[in-house]
Amino acid sequence: MGDQERKPDLYTVIDDDNIAWMHLDRQGSGTNVLSATVLERFYDELLDITERSPRGLVILSDKKNGFVAGADVGEFTLLGNHYEALTAIQRGQEVFDRLAALPFPSVALIHGFCLGGGLEMALACRYRIARDDPGTRLGLPEVRLGIHPGFGGSVRLTPLVGALHAMDLMLSGRTVDGRSAKRMGVVDYAVPERDLKTAARSLIMDPPFPHQPTKLQALSNHALVRPLLAHVFCRQVRKKARRDHYPAPYALIELWKQHAENERAMMHAEAESVAELITGPTAQNLIRVFLLQEQLKALGRQSGFRARRVHVIGAGVMGGDIAAWCASRGLQVTLEDQSPERIAPAMKRAYRLFKRRFKRTRPVQEAMDRLMPDHKGLGVERADVVIEAIFENADAKRALYAGLEPRMQEGALLATNTSSIPLQELRSGLARPERLVGLHFFNPVAKMQLVEIVRDAETDPEVVARATAFTRTIDRLPLPVTSTPGFLVNRILLPYLLEAVELENEGVPPAEIDRAAVNFGMPMGPIELADTVGLDICLHVGDILAQHLGGEVPQRLRDLVQQGRLGRKSGEGFYRYKKGKPVKQRARKDYRPAADIADRMVLRMLNEVVACLREKVVDDADHLDAGMVYGTGFAPFRGGPLHYIETEGEDTLLERLRDLESRYGPRFEPDAGWGDIAGFRSNEPDNET
Ligand code: NAI
Repeated sequence: MGDQERKPDLYTVIDDDNIAWMHLDRQGSGTNVLSATVLERFYDELLDITERSPRGLVILSDKKNGFVAGADVGEFTLLGNHYEALTAIQRGQEVFDRLAALPFPSVALIHGFCLGGGLEMALACRYRIARDDPGTRLGLPEVRLGIHPGFGGSVRLTPLVGALHAMDLMLSGRTVDGRSAKRMGVVDYAVPERDLKTAARSLIMDPPFPHQPTKLQALSNHALVRPLLAHVFCRQVRKKARRDHYPAPYALIELWKQHAENERAMMHAEAESVAELITGPTAQNLIRVFLLQEQLKALGRQSGFRARRVHVIGAGVMGGDIAAWCASRGLQVTLEDQSPERIAPAMKRAYRLFKRRFKRTRPVQEAMDRLMPDHKGLGVERADVVIEAIFENADAKRALYAGLEPRMQEGALLATNTSSIPLQELRSGLARPERLVGLHFFNPVAKMQLVEIVRDAETDPEVVARATAFTRTIDRLPLPVTSTPGFLVNRILLPYLLEAVELENEGVPPAEIDRAAVNFGMPMGPIELADTVGLDICLHVGDILAQHLGGEVPQRLRDLVQQGRLGRKSGEGFYRYKKGKPVKQRARKDYRPAADIADRMVLRMLNEVVACLREKVVDDADHLDAGMVYGTGFAPFRGGPLHYIETEGEDTLLERLRDLESRYGPRFEPDAGWGDIAGFRSNEPDNET
């Protein structure tokens, strides 16, 4: 190896073949991200390297987890106006243009994450090589932050692989592994770890003609074809996201349709478009939600606890899926129930999950090997975490703990998945009551990222820290909450669901109720959601909340449960189900929905948000927004319910709530916390319940 000069964030080694190897290694972080400073250093380095006239340049990362994870999203919030945004984006384009214009061959050597700005950097290289393993993920996930690629990514990807592949990646934001990227043409080679450097070296020593799209791919960018394809793309996007809620995918399609054959014009328009989007409310709110997610993730780093063995008791809907999820994340899991027959259905579901996640036979088999049916409960003694998910009955749970506790390891976690019983009631028989913590998963476990970490004043903070770290180990988002009825998410969601039931009872067609909620930005309407959760479960949670917090559960819900109409699982609830899908009747042509449908549902939810804030169910007001977005899918482009209150204006919403109270009665009575939201926000965290 020849000379080497270490600089912050990156350094270059020129070897005996005169190949420059530029190593990206951001200081003070385990991940490479492209902050403005890193970009400048990268630019300077390119100038230095060019002066030394190497035979070629290979860009690689020294980070274990990957190449480059993208831009520094935190910096997006600092862009005050369109002009500042445009300047920053154009500078990024200049930097990558410089890379693309190097007079010698360049190779991006990719392992692990290669996302957003990272992939745009790679696309500006002449060649790309990816490591061939499932851990290598390439993608342009910008749409998820309300923008689209801005550093030349959309301009370079479409001609490289054709509009179909390029738009598929950019509009969905999904990631692909090295092998799929190779198939699409995004990378030139996908090779095993041991061959990465040799492959890069041979590309530089004997550079082939750069990758070209197939004729059909090239045709997809033709001026005559674009309007037609653009129409198809728009139609697909419309099924998933409304233009007024999520403008970015539509802007991207338009950009490509207008300029795909003129690289310079497209660069210019790309920068303008992203500058416009990034300073708009949708992107700013989605960025906020992304950063909140990072905050929740960081909570898990406060403890060094690393669980390896998990024992789950109760192989029902929840326990079975929790066990499967843990096994899919690499943990050794034992799953207990009263008999092998009760465990069998959970094993079948686990197999389906593994097949969906891993696709290839070997990892599926390995995951199955990690998940052991254990009706005798032998796994308890060796488990680092014991999760109880038996039916919702305090006596049964207490009796179970009495048998469990003496057999558990000293430092093992004892967690309950209860959705409604206060910890206080459950821990009474324990020798070490402070060790009980709630790990409240949501249904379906594999889909819902959030886990509420439930504690009260008696819970040992170290136990809470361990439970939080465990949640990260299995790649879920921990949300610390106090042990109040319904915790946070169900408590806030329920009034919204119950108001939907009231509306339905008044004769508003269920499909109209759902439509109003979806128009507000919810992923699924409340009626369909209630049917999906199960009306018996809604009634159960409703009764518990009514008992502790007052209010009434509509008789209509009780009647449906009594008739055995439990929702999707029984084939009929509010809707009838055909092959698992609700049959939604169209409203009569002359039907005119009342103007306040959405307001009635949403304001009841917001009223509960204020109550939870006042009662400090969460330590940090922002956690409430994160919890509702990740626990219920609350309109992410609105930045969370609390942020929505602040954007709309507390006084305006309070007035609307009072108006609803005067028309519909005390269930709309404003909580005492209205008028002081800023006060709750600035309060110090308080761990007492
Ligand atoms: P489930 O009724 O589907 O499953 C419970 C399982 O526990 C059954 O297979 C039963 O045989 C087993 N079981 C009962 N007593 C046992 C014992 N002593 N030892 C071993 N196994 C025993 O119940 P589900 O819906 O999975 O709920 C479990 C817990 O999760 C409850 O506390 C519930 O409140 C909570 N929860 C449920 C959610 C849901 O959507 N279903 C969501 C979040 C939490």
